[in-house]
Amino acid sequence: MRKKIIILNGPNLNMLGKREPQIYGTQTLSDIENMCLKKAEKLNLAIDFRQSNSECELIEWIQKANENFAAIIINPAAFTHSSIAIRDALAGANLPIIEVHLSNIYQREEFRHHSFISPIASGIICGLGTNGYLLALEAIAEQL
Ligand code: DQA
Repeated sequence: MRKKIIILNGPNLNMLGKREPQIYGTQTLSDIENMCLKKAEKLNLAIDFRQSNSECELIEWIQKANENFAAIIINPAAFTHSSIAIRDALAGANLPIIEVHLSNIYQREEFRHHSFISPIASGIICGLGTNGYLLALEAIAEQL
């Protein structure tokens, strides 16, 4: 049976394509989902790709993740810089976690330089655009 990976996307990522394309590019979240589905198939993984603007919903998905999934890939979006609650949920998930950002958060405003998530992530990918999600899947496939 294929191992299942949950890919979580935080607030405003549903607006990709329209949202600040000079920073985030023109691909939509469903383009990214399709790329991930193809990549996962090649890696013999299954994925469940989700987005929420709600911190509460993301936390509930993370809390249940280890019932069905072997790893978490997460772009926490702005919650990266603000949410101790999401960090705590991830820390308790007992799964490998890869943090992904489309943009290079260290090249941007100072408030984006701090991530509450990075210290508990197995790995971090940022600044490589949508390819970051595919690289995260590759890394997970090797780790598992
Ligand atoms: C982001 C970077 C965050 O700082 C920002 O709040 C986002 C997207 C990225 O993918 O580059 O919403 O996580």
